[in-house]
Amino acid sequence: MTDTTTIHVHLGERSYPIHVGADLLGRLDELVTWPEHARTAAVVTNGMVWELHGDVVQAALERAGLAVECIRVPDGEQAKSTDTLTALWHRFAQIPLLRDDVVVAVGGGVVGDLAGFAAATWNRGVAVVQVPTTLLAQVDSAIGGKTGINLSEGKNLVGAFHQPLAVISDVATLATLPSRERRAGLGEVAKYGFIADPVVLDLLETRPGSATAGDPDVLAEIVRRGSAVKAEVVSEDETEAGRRALLNYGHTVGHAIEALTSYDTYRHGEAVALGMVFAARLGERMGVSEAGLAERTVAVLDGLGLPTRGLRLDPRDVWDVMSRDKKARDGVRFVLSTHPGEAILVDQPRRGLVDDVLRSLA
Ligand SMILES: NC(=O)c1ccc[n+]([C@@H]2O[C@H](COP(=O)([O-])OP(=O)(O)OC[C@H]3O[C@@H](n4cnc5c(N)ncnc54)[C@H](O)[C@@H]3O)[C@@H](O)[C@H]2O)c1
Ligand SMILES: [Zn+2]
Repeated sequence: MTDTTTIHVHLGERSYPIHVGADLLGRLDELVTWPEHARTAAVVTNGMVWELHGDVVQAALERAGLAVECIRVPDGEQAKSTDTLTALWHRFAQIPLLRDDVVVAVGGGVVGDLAGFAAATWNRGVAVVQVPTTLLAQVDSAIGGKTGINLSEGKNLVGAFHQPLAVISDVATLATLPSRERRAGLGEVAKYGFIADPVVLDLLETRPGSATAGDPDVLAEIVRRGSAVKAEVVSEDETEAGRRALLNYGHTVGHAIEALTSYDTYRHGEAVALGMVFAARLGERMGVSEAGLAERTVAVLDGLGLPTRGLRLDPRDVWDVMSRDKKARDGVRFVLSTHPGEAILVDQPRRGLVDDVLRSLA
């Protein structure tokens, strides 16, 4: 039996709990402090997730005294669009969803970002409860209040900070994830090991098979530790002025790889895996990272079945995308790990060195 743990995001009156454990969907009624005058829960989800978990969620919300309006959005990244958002607003109007009602996001990061943004904008902001059902969403996107949608011009260009009322991470839901999704999520988890919590790396090194296979006890420990890191960073730096930037470890190169491969070759966590190999090698070459970090990085990621080589991109193209990034106003910056558990920001490394390390990913 997997114990339930509660982690807190500390943001004054916008503080909230993250509950992590197995079989929590059926306890949504008791785990969440529902707004006193809430009558309706607008559940935003997709067909696949609702098919798997809808009955349990619906029964729990009804026990909490809420009328459930289920809104299914299309599967995949294309759901984070102005069209789907507009459709949600119209459904909210027809229900009608009132100021004291609540939006419940049940799904992966796509559903969470979209539903969170719809909640942020509806009636100038209604409460949202995040119920993440992918590993990436549980350890990352559901925590911290970043919400938004994509435009044809770029990803996440329209958005808002809107902290949830609570995050309910039921690790039992991860059992039905396709194994590639679980492995990609573990890439994001490994990131926390390099920047903040070395125990996460030990877990991934000693139990890679259990983690990729979806063992609930191992995943519960991983989600607890990952959520604790994200919660702590967000509590310290809600709007990404300082420490939150360290969460971009492996992401400067990772995002460029995703963009240059039209978002259809690598899952996000896979591109971040390549980005972490890059960061460790650059760090060692610059004398910032301890010797052996790159070798350990490759070993951990190989053990999880994540890509560590085979990148077929021209370093010049990668550089161009990185320097156009919205976060690169003052030149390309990289997050580098000094040793597992600690990371720093490094400005403007030598271009020739960056190209060299990028070539090593081939
Ligand atoms: N807000 C943030 O801070 C933040 C951080 C990181 C990523 N994101 C966003 O998150 C999104 C990616 O999220 P994701 O990786 O969860 O992808 P996703 O939401 O597309 O989910 C991946 C797939 O898994 C399916 N699925 C979800 N739960 C399932 C379950 N329990 N069983 C079986 N299948 C299930 C989904 O239907 C989907 O096909 C991106 O849009 C990204 O921009 C946001
Ligand atoms: Zn990420």
